[in-house]
Amino acid sequence: ISVSGKHRTGYHFQPPRNWINDPNGPMHYNGYYHLFYQYNPKGSVWGNIVWAHSVSKDLINWKALEPAIYPSKPFDKFGCWSGSATIIPGKGPVILYTGIVDANKTQVQCYAVPEDLSDPFLTKWIKPDEYNPIVVAGPGVNRTDFRDPTTAWFEDGHWKILVGSRRKHRGIAYLYRSRDFKKWIRAKHPIHTAAGTGMWECPDFYPVSMKGTMGLDTSVVGNHVKHVLKNSLDETRFEYYTLGTYFTNIDRYIPDNTSVDGWGGLRYDYGNFYASKSFFDPTMNRRILWGWANESDTKEDDIHKGWAGIQAIPRTLWLDPGGRQLIQWPIEELNSLRDKEVEMSNLKLVKGDYVEVKGITAAQADVEVTFSFSSLNEAEAFDLSWVNAEDLCGKKGSNIQGGVGPFGILTLASKNLEEFTPVFFRIFKASNKHVVLLCSDARSSSLKSELYKPSFAGFVDVDLSTTKKLSLRSLIDHSVVESFGAGGKTNILSRVYPELAVADQAHLFVFNNGTVPIVVENLRSWSMKSAVIN
Ligand code: FRU
Repeated sequence: ISVSGKHRTGYHFQPPRNWINDPNGPMHYNGYYHLFYQYNPKGSVWGNIVWAHSVSKDLINWKALEPAIYPSKPFDKFGCWSGSATIIPGKGPVILYTGIVDANKTQVQCYAVPEDLSDPFLTKWIKPDEYNPIVVAGPGVNRTDFRDPTTAWFEDGHWKILVGSRRKHRGIAYLYRSRDFKKWIRAKHPIHTAAGTGMWECPDFYPVSMKGTMGLDTSVVGNHVKHVLKNSLDETRFEYYTLGTYFTNIDRYIPDNTSVDGWGGLRYDYGNFYASKSFFDPTMNRRILWGWANESDTKEDDIHKGWAGIQAIPRTLWLDPGGRQLIQWPIEELNSLRDKEVEMSNLKLVKGDYVEVKGITAAQADVEVTFSFSSLNEAEAFDLSWVNAEDLCGKKGSNIQGGVGPFGILTLASKNLEEFTPVFFRIFKASNKHVVLLCSDARSSSLKSELYKPSFAGFVDVDLSTTKKLSLRSLIDHSVVESFGAGGKTNILSRVYPELAVADQAHLFVFNNGTVPIVVENLRSWSMKSAVIN
């Protein structure tokens, strides 16, 4: 199988070949970061799933090891699906994962431990026969939709984990408790459920500090924290989270009244980002989020190119001071790949202006830009029926003239704009506030027609009455445009496959298509070096 190059990434994590999906069990232990991930050793479509394993000192450059967990026992003979790592103080890491028992895809939860704790890479993992599998679906539990155990937290003398599931169309996060990490008992009630959301894949449950950007160990509770419950909703292929309160005495989680459960709720990312997992990094007291970005090309393309799937850039995550949402930002280690820099400032863009940002490798770049505008008077009226941001972006693309916006950047653009992926803002006026839309529109990304080219978009919760500025950062990496709007409030990852705008034929522009002039207050962009990955 040939592994074709033009859309491979330069600094987003991927193995040399084959299919990957969910990041699994990320952790920092004994000087190394570990990333495991769902992997098909035999091809570039989903199947034959094992836990591939890489280690790193900086979360950017990775060394590949042999698969850590693969089918070898009756309880995981048909697959080793997603799961998490927990570091037991004084003892070391334990991995919990979902084993597939039979051809019907019956799911059980299993554990694995390092064979040799003194091996710095923790290369080999064993699955003790004693107590394995640790959890099987009990009466009333859907045994073929029962998977993806979380990192455990320790509370009131017990270790506790969640396992994702559903009952008909109600999403469920079951809670299990254990005193010794071996014998686990299901709590009387799930920690949380929500009607109409379907299967909850890859749940994640953790505390965030109500003040500051520091991350917390998963076991921290108290009245200075809020809890986050995230689920990956199989039917929409997006991840939704709520912020809320964890009532430890009854082991129940209740979302805040500002946080909506389900398809109308907050998302980590409004694009191609799924099955994510967070972990606490004690070396820098931060919580880091890893997510998977699937391909948007066809299965035939994946087979032809010999690989499919990447991991997004790890993101630091914390609670916005307003308390209503999370903020995400690429880990600072990424800046070590920044190479040649180009800067622009105080550049005025009137309606119809396109200005090229020259001098960097636009196919592999990092761009940070702040836009300002003098007035919001000419903002278009917002129609309250526009609840779906993606549809709205589909209606009002980067070429559709507006009042304030569309303005932003054109990434992975061919010279004469036959191809481009615009990432842009558009501001609307509602009765008593402004509505800000961020779009990452793949419709014009490639001349190839048979690709999935969604007009991904999300609303941005910013108050424009105090400052008339919006910032944007985009990480451009051949077939990835990973964008962070308003300092990480609304984030969108797009996968795109240009035919012309590849390698040194790719260009970057700033643009404005609104009647109100926009000022590029400051733009810094860097050519990005390639990371050493696997
Ligand atoms: C999410 C998921 C998980 C499952 C794994 C299998 O993408 O479907 O629920 O454990 O992938 O590879």
